[in-house]
Amino acid sequence: MLGAFIQLFLFGCARDRAQVQYKKDAEIPAWISPQPLSAIVVYDSWSGNTQLIAESMAEAISCPAIPLNDIDDYPVSDYDLLMIGSPVHSGMPTDRIKDFLNGLETPHRTAVFVTFGAPFFGPFAAEKCLNGMEKRLRGTCIGRFKCHGFHQILGTYPTHPDEKDRADAARFATGLITRCKKTASIGGMNSAIIL
Ligand SMILES: Cc1cc2nc3c(=O)[nH]c(=O)nc-3n(C[C@H](O)[C@H](O)[C@H](O)COP(=O)(O)O)c2cc1C
Repeated sequence: MLGAFIQLFLFGCARDRAQVQYKKDAEIPAWISPQPLSAIVVYDSWSGNTQLIAESMAEAISCPAIPLNDIDDYPVSDYDLLMIGSPVHSGMPTDRIKDFLNGLETPHRTAVFVTFGAPFFGPFAAEKCLNGMEKRLRGTCIGRFKCHGFHQILGTYPTHPDEKDRADAARFATGLITRCKKTASIGGMNSAIIL
């Protein structure tokens, strides 16, 4: 009984798995994706969780995963697909990610992802964080991903991101590329449907 209560208190309604979301109806800027597509993953990470997810995504689609500190040499807005990842800090992305997003020239297409570790309201904080990131991307965001990451202060989700989270992240990235290619084959339409 006590165990069940502790479990409920710590993890509440949080589902122990990653969540992937693609946008079904997105306004796509009048721009035609070249083949092959160029993609880049940019991330911030304090304790390595978001880095693991970023690297899984990058590996799956053979593109670079660059920590924010090293981003200066990369013309990130020129990539066909820019994926941006952050840990959730008090329901927000890190200050460095916020600064990066605020200084970003309008990219072609983007996707956002977070890792989060708070019990109970963690998924809601992660959604809020993703919403904030997406808002700064001016309608270019075509997908979002979130999964648990070990919270160094609270000690929650000690095994995450786990193999399944990493596999889900890889699938998410390949799904984004597929969707970019589908809209590319439709052509530079103003309101292409992302399936
Ligand atoms: C200062 C700080 C604030 C955090 N705030 C939240 C939060 O508001 N909600 C949440 O779900 N997790 C929160 N976390 C947990 C992290 O989001 C989580 O552990 C994440 O996976 C860390 O990613 P990283 O290893 O890439 O830094 C916080 C962690 C730290 C260190």
